Amino acid sequence: MKILGVETSCDETAAAVVSNGTEILSNVVSSQVALHRPYGGVVPELASRNHLRLIDSVVEQALFDARASIDEIDGVAATYGPGLASSLLIGLNVAKGIAFAAGKPFVAINHVEAHLYSPLFANAARGALPMISLIVSGGHTILAHATAIGTHEILGQTVDDAAGEAFDKVAKLLDLGYPGGPEIQNRAENGNPRAIDFPRSMLHDGSYDFSFSGLKTSVLYFLRKNPRSRTGDVCASFQEAVVDVLVGKTVRAAADLRVKTVSASGGVSINRRFREKLGAECAQRGLQLLLAPAALCADNAAMIAGLAYYQLSRSGPSDFSMEIAPSMGLGAGGFSCQHS
Ligand code: KG4
Ligand code: ZN
Repeated sequence: MKILGVETSCDETAAAVVSNGTEILSNVVSSQVALHRPYGGVVPELASRNHLRLIDSVVEQALFDARASIDEIDGVAATYGPGLASSLLIGLNVAKGIAFAAGKPFVAINHVEAHLYSPLFANAARGALPMISLIVSGGHTILAHATAIGTHEILGQTVDDAAGEAFDKVAKLLDLGYPGGPEIQNRAENGNPRAIDFPRSMLHDGSYDFSFSGLKTSVLYFLRKNPRSRTGDVCASFQEAVVDVLVGKTVRAAADLRVKTVSASGGVSINRRFREKLGAECAQRGLQLLLAPAALCADNAAMIAGLAYYQLSRSGPSDFSMEIAPSMGLGAGGFSCQHS
């Protein structure tokens, strides 16, 4: 079964074709990063205008790369939330239009649930579940216990900023440009992670929740007091604090729940130091670690089409009356709680 997926929740215009939830036949992402960089963040108005300009050619390219005509597609899926309202509207309506015109089932997908699915492409059939799943992106930091595809329980989440947001805000303080994560990672390679003892908020509080706004404020105060500090040291020390908390909580959840598999997804999970530390901690504890390739960690439509296969098979198509849901979360149950 081939699904065409469409993703326009933020600043990437993306479309992909995935067969049976596992085989990625095409994965096209048109990034608008360069367009938003001069503004230091995503400008919603610019993003939606460019989604509108790009979406037709991105969908056509995805079908072309997959060597599939629309007649050979068995369903059309799109992100309906969470994300920027004016961006979500474009992808959702284009997908509905294609599905309706071609007489195909339409599937509305929760973007965060799709991130959770992304490390499972190669592993879904191999007994990877249950797993402890960390979703770390620019908008979300969530720790979940997934027992099946489309079935999970949320263990904890950020009480303020998302981890990616913290990377982006600290990069702004340091004048490193947008997006901040890759820049901080690169500067950190030449810095000492033990140079500055930034706080590891909530690491030992027994919960699975996260907090990153205090860390960002600590960096701000540190920079005010130490204007001539080495940028590499600030980046490495900040990155180490974020990574310690993310990795610490994830492996503790696996131990507490006696789960033998751990996964991570979302843009921040591309971070080299994060992968290195999580890999080492998992190896030491005999945990299986599932990480998706970078192209599937950042926003993409393959994860939308991949999850849609399972959602369509289990819960059936979505109604064409489904609206965007910009501020929805992961949902406590899965498959966006059957759209309840
Ligand atoms: O998943 P994603 O592409 O989009 C959202 O759904 O938010 O994540 C984007 C976030 C940004 O905050 C970006 O700074 C961060 O992921 N990011 C990184 C790295 N690459 C991207 N953070 C740390 N290290 C990286 N290498
Ligand atoms: Zn995302």
